[in-house]
Amino acid sequence: MSGSSTYKPESRFAKWMDARLPIYRLAHDSFIDYPTPRNLNYWWTFGAVLSFFLIAQIVTGIVLSMHYTAHVDLAFGSVEHIMRDVNYGWLMRYLHSNGASMFFLAVYVHIFRGLYYGSYKEPREVLWILGVLIYLLMMATGFMGYVLPWGQMSLWGATVITNLFGAIPLVGESIATWLWGGYSVDNPTLNRFFSLHYLLPFVIVGVVGLHVWALHVPGNNNPEGVGVKSGQDTLPFHPYYTMKDGFALVLFLILYAGFVFFAPNILGHADNYIPANKLVTPTHIVPEWYLLPFYAILRAVPDKLGGVVLMFGSIFVLFLLPWLDTAKTISGRYRPLFKQFFWLFVIDCLFLGYLGAKPAEGAYITLARIGTFYYFAHFLIVLPLLSKYEKANTPPVSISEAVGKGT
Ligand code: HEM
Repeated sequence: MSGSSTYKPESRFAKWMDARLPIYRLAHDSFIDYPTPRNLNYWWTFGAVLSFFLIAQIVTGIVLSMHYTAHVDLAFGSVEHIMRDVNYGWLMRYLHSNGASMFFLAVYVHIFRGLYYGSYKEPREVLWILGVLIYLLMMATGFMGYVLPWGQMSLWGATVITNLFGAIPLVGESIATWLWGGYSVDNPTLNRFFSLHYLLPFVIVGVVGLHVWALHVPGNNNPEGVGVKSGQDTLPFHPYYTMKDGFALVLFLILYAGFVFFAPNILGHADNYIPANKLVTPTHIVPEWYLLPFYAILRAVPDKLGGVVLMFGSIFVLFLLPWLDTAKTISGRYRPLFKQFFWLFVIDCLFLGYLGAKPAEGAYITLARIGTFYYFAHFLIVLPLLSKYEKANTPPVSISEAVGKGT
């Protein structure tokens, strides 16, 4: 997508096509001869894993939608029909529900890889921002998908989350009513959630296209965080990284198959096998595992609006990250202090996830407040201070810089 093209059309058809729509050239330059740093480790294989899961979710989702009925009286039964009557319907459903979990597992590895190796830093800010946008879209899609089987967690999860909009001053109630298409989560809500759950993955496909484009302009970052200087630093994407990505994907698929065939419901909540009932509220309403840290942040504050602001703020702060961590050293590998705070942040996120699954009472709330405090402090205090400290303590790279520093 950038740099000079090495594509040479051979057949007559390829030459004819290249003069009209150079799509083979684009594919060749982006995925065959694309110069890739030779030192990428296995953490760099997750972009390919994610691409696989995006397609897998769309394919299995389309098959499921052929048998699913988006109506409050029929949805639960139509899912049971898929499980019992449709040929391999159980497989499609388990591939899709566990596929969502694997997709999120892969995206978390992908995001933390970027955080550790500084892949969000100049010149990859737009690439990072598009990634955060994809993540937001994925969360919206996952949330709406969970509502579709119309079990108890579907109804009550949707009720808790949509009610959050009611906390917005003045217009909150009207927004909630507008979202529901009525006065509570009901048939119109289920219908529009199905429609959006079908639409959003295609929006994600579009943003992923931009994401990969924004990757190919500056090129990949790498574990050392130093830029590619010459052809000696790179390898062609094919066969070197197609093989490495393919191998990593096979390993990841083994884990996926383990869930699908041996523990297909372990990541879900048993209550979602109880048909939705507006008259019975479950004792604990919990979202899917991949949303738990944000749920913990939401409930850490006694004030509803405050919780909503913090929850959305916890994602929003990611957009600002390239301007919060301005240290010149890109890779965490060469930032000893940063490395320690990075691992503290990973533990904090896992801890918040654990707390999100616990009832919002007593010590759990206090701990969630501490976890939430560190989450924000990491981005808003630790990283800016570390950047400042590192800048003041790195030797100058040129005489003019040394003069500028007054040394
Ligand atoms: C559907 C979801 C996604 C897909 C299919 C996807 C795809 C890819 C691919 C194929 C690459 C290149 C290979 C690699 O570095 O692993 C990549 C790189 C990258 N992605 Fe994503 N991505 C997704 C989500 C995200 C998210 C949520 C973020 C961050 C919030 C993100 C941030 C990045 C960054 C910073 C890079 C550059 C890494 C580097 O150059 O070292 N991506 N992505």
